[in-house]
Amino acid sequence: MQVTCLDTEHLNMENMLEEIALLLQEQEERTADRQRTLTENLYQQLEALASITSLLPLRMPLPPMRGWAISPDFGIILINEILKHKPRLVLELGSGVSTLLAAYCLEKTGSGKLVSFDHDLNYSEQTRERITDHGLDRIAEIIHAPLTKVTLDQGEWDWYETARMDQNLKIDLLVIDGPPGQIQKISRYPALPVLHKYLADEVVILLDDAARVDEKTTLDMWIQEFPEFEHEYRSAEKGASILRRKR
Ligand SMILES: C[S@@+](CC[C@H](N)C(=O)[O-])C[C@H]1O[C@@H](n2cnc3c(N)ncnc32)[C@H](O)[C@@H]1O
Repeated sequence: MQVTCLDTEHLNMENMLEEIALLLQEQEERTADRQRTLTENLYQQLEALASITSLLPLRMPLPPMRGWAISPDFGIILINEILKHKPRLVLELGSGVSTLLAAYCLEKTGSGKLVSFDHDLNYSEQTRERITDHGLDRIAEIIHAPLTKVTLDQGEWDWYETARMDQNLKIDLLVIDGPPGQIQKISRYPALPVLHKYLADEVVILLDDAARVDEKTTLDMWIQEFPEFEHEYRSAEKGASILRRKR
């Protein structure tokens, strides 16, 4: 009787050890997968950064990318769009390193202007100073546009003050990287309904952070309300969406 009890205990212990070994193996595989994904992404960002520095004749160091700023892979999408389609007017929402990249590209194409809105006084001054340091004042204008209430069919938002905007503007490329998501739900939704009347026929719209839930919701709403646009999603580090007007 005692022998049988010991046998059962031994068996239970073996089963437990097997289970622990299995769990450890699964954990190791998950860690290896995560590491692989991180390394692949890091390589992609470095590859994109190498392209950026070889394509653009930088006169001063670039401020850090990623985090609050665009990631190098979004930079490549932006650069590609400007060099290929030579927009005459680029309007950007949310200034920073993206402003510098876009301005260098416009300088390279030899035509086109960039207007960048920033809701924050300090950040707009910082970007303006960097634009001057890089010798790009002729090309880029930074506008401090504080957020004000805007009421649309879908609700109310705090969005860039546009009262002083030239009514005759025709935007060829719209780059949306603000206002920050922390400010409110679907913070960037107003961009399309508010700016729709200023868009050139063949406008292209780039949306950063498109992998986020709020940006996905925003995209769904835009596509429903403005069916004339075709949407392409790129799996960049933070997700990138490209909207082109269907012809
Ligand atoms: C997503 S950021 C725009 C980044 C910009 N497109 C770039 O590539 O650097 C949106 C806004 O957040 C603000 N911002 C920028 N960096 C920030 C930081 N480190 N912390 C808090 N707000 C920041 C600025 O007012 C900016 O317009």
